[in-house]
Amino acid sequence: VTSPLLFSPVTLPAPEGPGLELLNRAIVPPMCQYAVDAEDGVPTDWHLVHTGAMAAGGFGLVTVEATGVEARGRISPRDLGLWDDAQVPAHARLTAFAHTQGAAIAVQLGHAGGKASTYPWLPGASEGTVPAAEGGWPTVSATAQPTLPELDAPAALDAAGLDEVVEAFASAARRADAAGYDAVQIHAAHGYLLHQFLSPITNTRTDGYGGDEAGRTRLLLRVVDAVRAAWSAHKPLGIRLSATDWTEGEDGTVWDARATARLARTLVDEHGVGWIDVSSGGLAGGRIPVGPGYQVPLAQAVTEALACTQAVVSAVGLIEEAAQAETILATGQAHAVSIGRAALRDPHWAASAASTLGVQAKAIHAAPQYWRARF
Ligand code: FNR
Repeated sequence: VTSPLLFSPVTLPAPEGPGLELLNRAIVPPMCQYAVDAEDGVPTDWHLVHTGAMAAGGFGLVTVEATGVEARGRISPRDLGLWDDAQVPAHARLTAFAHTQGAAIAVQLGHAGGKASTYPWLPGASEGTVPAAEGGWPTVSATAQPTLPELDAPAALDAAGLDEVVEAFASAARRADAAGYDAVQIHAAHGYLLHQFLSPITNTRTDGYGGDEAGRTRLLLRVVDAVRAAWSAHKPLGIRLSATDWTEGEDGTVWDARATARLARTLVDEHGVGWIDVSSGGLAGGRIPVGPGYQVPLAQAVTEALACTQAVVSAVGLIEEAAQAETILATGQAHAVSIGRAALRDPHWAASAASTLGVQAKAIHAAPQYWRARF
């Protein structure tokens, strides 16, 4: 009997209690749906079917798409949100169904900052920031420079604005708890607000929230502490980081794997973070060497930095084959894998991987109604 690591359990640690045991190490990363019927940040039937299929498809953990902590922090008007209590019941429907399938379910809390108010991928959408006349809204960021060259200039957040952002993340985490989510993932990657502060490319502030690494990481650490205090101490807190910008700031300062590894260690040792998902990119200038598993070395750098801790590191980015995922785990490059587009193509990717690796479907939590299709 083979027992692949991919289908061995892993625990995302929490400050109190045993933490969250995932039945296997296949995770669905957050993927915005921009669902056509999504309004006011409320999940729809689409989101239930989308996340539900993956929960039934054998994944240990399904992460709900980037969910705005403030209305002005949405990428598009069709994003999900948790800035309002009225959004909670529809999120609770997603968590309840995932739990009937034996899957854990997380939500990614995000703020798009200077990359808000765009309409990615929507047919006919204008490039750049959507103007107010077309339903857009003014954006905020670390500085008043456009976050990407094609975007409108945001307003630089002042002290009161920073407090509002911190409080918005905390309130959203409280609502996520009420909605029954098992884990929260803070979105600090892909060029969105928290990454806009981390990166020397977009953060040229001269106050305590800019400058050196301590300054540029200050907002994120405040957000993490506020969320950790608002979120159940028995539930794990995760974070998604872009581990490199693939380029450097004007004076040669970089946001890279070393800076990320230092931050990861601080987050885990001092701020109660138990799960780090290692992605990359999202700001202008870099050339990304896209290919199979191209971000795995970045995950490995973080895994090595966290070697003496209980924290779980997940790798992501063109991990598509069961054997490839198993090799990443078996070589210790990461403790779990996030499967994005491959899970869109096959929402039952985890069950498929189980049968490829010779694991009995009934040994995982995939929907028993479908076993006969595999064995
Ligand atoms: C994404 N991605 C993404 N990332 C994130 O942190 N929050 C999000 O809401 C989204 N939204 C999103 C939507 C869609 C349709 C795609 C395809 C991707 C990035 C995603 O989580 C993942 O990191 C990448 O897709 C790379 O992994 P794969 O797809 O190569 O496995």
